[in-house]
Amino acid sequence: MLHSNKNIVAILTIVLLAATTAYAGDSPSEVNQRIGIGDPVAGKDKSALCQGCHGEDGNSVAANFPKLSGQWFDYIQKQVREFQNGARFNETMTDVAMSVDNFQDLFDISAYFASQKTMGGTPIANEAEQQLYLEGQKLYLEGNERTGAFRCIKCHGEYGKGQPLNNNLFPVLGGQHKEYLIKQLTDFKMEERENDRSGMMLRITTRLTDHDIEALATYLSREPPPVPAPAPEPTPVSDVSDTTVSEVWQTLMEDKPVHIEDTNFEIGSAKLKSNVFKTLDEVVGFVSQKSDAKLALVGYTDTTGSAKTNRQLSLARAESVKKYIVKKGVSADRITTQGEGSANPVGDNNTKAGRAKNRRVDIRSVMKEEKKIKVNL
Ligand code: HEC
Ligand code: HEC
Repeated sequence: MLHSNKNIVAILTIVLLAATTAYAGDSPSEVNQRIGIGDPVAGKDKSALCQGCHGEDGNSVAANFPKLSGQWFDYIQKQVREFQNGARFNETMTDVAMSVDNFQDLFDISAYFASQKTMGGTPIANEAEQQLYLEGQKLYLEGNERTGAFRCIKCHGEYGKGQPLNNNLFPVLGGQHKEYLIKQLTDFKMEERENDRSGMMLRITTRLTDHDIEALATYLSREPPPVPAPAPEPTPVSDVSDTTVSEVWQTLMEDKPVHIEDTNFEIGSAKLKSNVFKTLDEVVGFVSQKSDAKLALVGYTDTTGSAKTNRQLSLARAESVKKYIVKKGVSADRITTQGEGSANPVGDNNTKAGRAKNRRVDIRSVMKEEKKIKVNL
């Protein structure tokens, strides 16, 4: 009863600790999986001695002392027991391991380091390192068929995050010190470290050159480069209702003109009124989606007024529409403008209603016409 209460406190503490960290591998369930059966809260004080070399939170500073933060509980306690029984030997660490003389202390200490924010790599320093990083990454992910080096990812997981798999526990490697990784790989290769079950690491390291080892250690000790930012979203179609969307798009796709009428302009002026923005935003949405579409804008007037003024006004109105569309992110060279004055009437110039119809800018998508021309050539 007492034991499980202790664990609940411990788990709550971990959840709080984990909530303040941003690394992958630090979600409460992942931390929980790492800490095993020890009590990380009690382990904090009990590990005072270890913190001198391995760092207060297990993120050691010196590169010959391995980082323990976020390492698996079971892996940590296995190593300490093996330093004690001689299966693994290191002058410094073997002596220290002897001072941990009961299992509960060992479990609590291991749980404490396991509960800490996972170790993280340092940034790639220069081009030479970048090159080594890429070589190491390839070897880590794919192995080397020629030499028979098995791919590390199979056992140690993505970016060396470590994993429990088929009764084996593969340690965290990603973010570990480079010098320490090189020493371990070399120790396995020279059979100076032999506590890997069934010689798993021996079989692999004998197929690695010193250069391979350095490349792998570089890859594992450096931060993965940032994931490239996603491409910007295409210009969003504004808050128009579905029926309007399909109407404007439908018209453009059928090769018919979308009419911008004189009620969309200030009287006698080329300045656009806001009532036309929705329609124009849909046109923008259309050309943003259809990368091979171009727009032809042709302005018209009714027959009142001189031919010269009419041509100028009709062109100015087409230009205003173009300016708006370009401002919304469509390249100007996809848009042509023309002012045709009172040509091509669509309404009767003898009636008021007819004249109103004729004062307009027609927007056409010329995608299909271009394709036709290409076929003719
Ligand atoms: C005086 C420095 C020192 C102290 C104190 C110390 N260690 Fe270590 N520890 C080392 C060194 C050095 C190694 C690396 C040994 C090697 O190269 O194989 C190591 C390795 C380890 C490893 C193996 C890590 C791995 O990734 O395989 C574990 C686990 C460990 N120590 C746990 C502890 C614990 C628990 C304590 C406290 C009881 C502790 N150490 C105290 C120096 C120290
Ligand atoms: C077949 C599974 C397997 C493969 C593949 C494998 N490893 Fe390991 N590795 C292990 C096991 C198991 C251990 C832990 C041994 C122990 O319990 O002490 C280990 C330990 C290590 C350690 C020591 C970690 C530490 O903290 O001291 C390093 C470094 C390492 N492996 C690197 C690699 C690299 C690099 C590769 C690819 C070239 C690789 N491993 C491929 C199973 C594997």
